[in-house]
Parts: sequence; structure tokens; C-alpha cells
Amino acid sequence: MDPYDRISLAVAAAAGAAPSSHLSTLAIHGGQWPDPATGAILTPIYQSTTFRQEAVGRHKGYTYTRQANPTVEALERNLGALEGALPAAAFATGLAALATLFLTVLKAGDHVVLSSVIYGGTVRLLRRVLHDFGVATTLVDTTSEAALRAALARPTRLALVESPGNPTLVLTDLAMVARVAREAGALVAVDNTLLTAALQRPLDLGADVVVYSTTKYIEGHNATVGGALVTRDPALLERLKFVRNATGCPQAPFDAWLTLRGLKTLPLRMARHSAVAQCVAEWLERHPRVSWIRHPGLASFPQRDLARRQQGGGGGMIAFEIAGDAERLMSAVKLCALAENLGAVESLITHPATMTHGSLTPEERREMGVSDGLVRLSVGLEDPETIIADLDQALGA
Ligand SMILES: Cc1ncc(COP(=O)(O)O)c(C=O)c1O
Repeated sequence: MDPYDRISLAVAAAAGAAPSSHLSTLAIHGGQWPDPATGAILTPIYQSTTFRQEAVGRHKGYTYTRQANPTVEALERNLGALEGALPAAAFATGLAALATLFLTVLKAGDHVVLSSVIYGGTVRLLRRVLHDFGVATTLVDTTSEAALRAALARPTRLALVESPGNPTLVLTDLAMVARVAREAGALVAVDNTLLTAALQRPLDLGADVVVYSTTKYIEGHNATVGGALVTRDPALLERLKFVRNATGCPQAPFDAWLTLRGLKTLPLRMARHSAVAQCVAEWLERHPRVSWIRHPGLASFPQRDLARRQQGGGGGMIAFEIAGDAERLMSAVKLCALAENLGAVESLITHPATMTHGSLTPEERREMGVSDGLVRLSVGLEDPETIIADLDQALGA
């Protein structure tokens, strides 16, 4: 029996339920087996572009690393196992994954609907690049079913949503989007970068494709850039891999190996990120300089019921605004680092208006609620008291 099936079945038997309920075991073992040649418990890094072939047309499934690589495939099996899906397609970056999704499912004349609160690079790719190839994009407030239905009245090939939306953490009801978009004949993709399969399972809620920047929580240690697409549709997966090979943007073997190592602790890290962020958010909410704060774990979170229904935890991200100079706060932090990234063990603080969403127009930022005073905090895995002490001194500065 394929060892991948053996692990999945063992987990299912132990759980008496779907394998998805034993994510820690799947994160460590899903799609992994000791190296048949040596017994090495970790998948080796197959750092080779080229694979020797036995005869013309006869080989072991690998010819050239742009097309397929055993270490990258180990990562793809693991990502797929976590999502209860086919092995994923892994990419050089999250944006390479998004670009491949768009090049695979869209053609000139197609229309895309995006949730209005979404990573700025996704909007830039569609509006500043694919627009010139005849793809139209509409940003819509996907918290409103009526607004979504109105946008989908125009024939739509793809609906892509992010929940929580980066950076203001507005939630979208993914089951609603899947139902309404499917009725309208659109494919549904969910960027699950901010929560991962450990806290949210878009395919179970009706999505066709899950998008990841593995750069964030999936790898989790600020060590790699990477992306992934996960689906249960074999024909779509085959086409995605065809386009990935044609455009040349797969994940590299060493980065795949580092990502695999990060994945082993994903459920543990996501639970801890949520717990530490909860402490920090509750403290920030009481601070007199904080004018508003959003974190899905807070009792005051406006979409608390949806957060409870859809997410397995609050996640590690906090959005807030302060009275006064937000840029001064961000320059005064010492433990937290002022940086563009999110989702790593180190706490990172970001100014979305000039950093992650700086490529958008002021109108686009206004539409997304990205004000100049907005602060995004990616809470790491440090002791919460130390993060709070750092924010306290920076807010007093
Ligand atoms: C939600 C989300 N999706 C996609 C991306 C793009 O990923 P990458 O930076 O790995 O290309 C990012 C990057 O910040 C992101 O935050």
C-alpha cells in the first residue's frame, strides 16, 4: 500500500472520523515516508535539476526539476493531505501561485470578482498586468450577499476571496460565497494564507481552489518565499501543473524542504499564535491610545458569530488604529520588527498604506479601509508579556 494511504487510514481509524480531525499527525506524516534508499526519516533535498533516464522515454517519473522534483512533491503531498485534497501544486512565491491560477482559468474577455479587502499584490496583478490582456476585475464587499450577487450579475469566471481579509481582518462567509458564486457559474478560490488548514478549511465549505503564500504561516520561520494551490479537482490540478511548467515558476527543492520542516509544527504554531494574539489584542483594546482594534478572537469583533462558525481560532493577526502618529509607533518598537511579512515566529509590525498595499491607488486603499493610521501586527510566538511590554513602551514614545 502507498505509505500516504497507510498514514491517512491510520489517522482515520484512530479518529473514527475524517483524517482532517487529526491535523497534527497529518502535518508530521501526511504524504511522507522514510527515504527508500537510506531510511532517512526526513525527505532528502533532491538538489538536482537533471535526472538520468534509463532509455528514451523510460525514467523514474523525474526528468527536469522545473517539471517535477521529489522534494517538492513531498511538500505537495503534505499540503494536500492537510486539506483533504489532491497533492498541491507548489510555487516559487504566493504571487506565482496566483498568476498561475489566473493564467490557467482566465482568458481575454473574462471577469473576476475579488473581495474588496485583499492582499494588495493580488489587485496589482489583476488590474495592472492582466487588465492589459483583457481581464476585467471588480472589487466587491463580500460581507454582503446582495453586493456579491450584484457583481456576479456580470458573467464571471472566477471569484477570489480572502478571509480574514488582509489587512483589516474583515471576514467573508465562505460557504455563502461558494453557494452564490457556484450558482452564477463562477469558480471559487479562497486565499487561506492568514489562517491555513489548521484553522479554516475552504474546500469543505465549497471552494474549488485554496491559494497560499507559504511564505507566511505554512513555512512560518521567515526563511523562504513560496506558494501553493490546493484542489480536489484532478483535471484542474493537471492544468495548473501544465501552466506552472510552461511559465516556469515551481518551488525550489531546498525551499520546499524548509517548508516541509515548518509544516510539521503548523497546528501547534497556529494554536499558539492565536493564544498569544488574543492576550496582546485584549491588552491593546484597553489602551487609551488605541481608537479601534480588530481581532477575530475579541468579544468586540463585529463578525464574532461568523468567526466562531468558520474558524478554528482567532489567528495571529491584529489590525488597529491609534490616536496620533502610527508611523512613530512603528519606528519605536524594539522586540517587534517593522517589516513587510506576516505569519512567522517573530512578531512583525507593518504599515499597510506604504508597505503591503503601497502599490494601490489612494482610492483603492480607501475602498479597502486601509487608512494611513492603520497598523497591522503579526503576533509571533514570543511570550505575550514581552510583546505587550514592547508595545507599551512604543505607544508611550
Ligand atoms: C494573503 C496573501 N496572499 C498572497 C500573498 C503573496 O505571496 P508572496 O509574497 O509569497 O508572493 C501575500 C503576501 O503578502 C499575502 O499576504
